[in-house]
Amino acid sequence: MSILYVLIHEVDEGQAFWEKEGEKFLSPQERERLTSLRFQKRRQEWLHGRWVAKHLIQRVLSDFGELTLSEISIENRADGSPWVFVKGEEVQGELSISHREGWACAAFSQNTEISLGIDVEKIEKRDPAFYMDYFTDREKVNRALISEMSEEMYYTFLWSAKEAVLKALKLGLRIDTRKIEILLGGFDTISRSFACSWFSISIQVLGVGENWTGFGYIREQFVMTLACHGIKKSEPVMIQEIRL
Ligand SMILES: CC(C)(COP(=O)(O)OP(=O)(O)OC[C@H]1O[C@@H](n2cnc3c(N)ncnc32)[C@H](O)[C@@H]1OP(=O)(O)O)[C@@H](O)C(=O)NCCC(=O)NCCS
Repeated sequence: MSILYVLIHEVDEGQAFWEKEGEKFLSPQERERLTSLRFQKRRQEWLHGRWVAKHLIQRVLSDFGELTLSEISIENRADGSPWVFVKGEEVQGELSISHREGWACAAFSQNTEISLGIDVEKIEKRDPAFYMDYFTDREKVNRALISEMSEEMYYTFLWSAKEAVLKALKLGLRIDTRKIEILLGGFDTISRSFACSWFSISIQVLGVGENWTGFGYIREQFVMTLACHGIKKSEPVMIQEIRL
């Protein structure tokens, strides 16, 4: 069984709170990184993302003894993807982080054979060019079949899932987003359950195998998506949401 640990967190606190909190939970390497971030919004989101990811890692690794948050260091590889160290030792597994307007989420798996990405996006109206440019023809046709979702919710959802896939691939927005196709199959099930739990989504990525597993979640005005590559079709998957 593959367990995907997830922590989602929302805060109202502003910059002053996070700058003060950061003093308590950052590792020396993270403090150095923070000094290189100049924009207030970026600093705040970065601090919130670190705080959430560290709490997640602390909980998942709790079997190995008590860890303080500052003993966990979340750094970034050259491609931008997060990398976890505990007391200077690299932690095996895969972590992904996302932050947006007061929301931050992180996903972690100890299965070293899978790669994963998580993303949070705000549901909002966008320029019509956005709908035309970044989605496949099939995604646009499918929009008409899914009347339960508003246009902005549908496309925000698909966009979030594409970003989650791009993180799992360690590519970020360096490839054409139309190479990733997201299908919201079984929408009847989704519409009944989307207010309170994760639901499955189908992900296809041109040229990157078929072994994708996707999940979505909608909370208030935000969507969260999780994309994993490498989980065998026959293998059960469980999302374990950690609550603070
Ligand atoms: C990765 C990317 C899709 C993130 O999307 P976003 O919606 O802007 O931001 P999110 O909050 O959802 O995600 C940010 C997190 O993604 C992670 N991330 C960044 N690059 C990543 C990559 N290549 N692979 C996996 N994860 C990545 C980081 O953990 C980052 O948070 P952190 O910097 O606090 O550690 C986007 O930033 C991107 O495409 N980056 C690569 C392109 C690039 O490098 N552009 C040049 C910037 S100067």
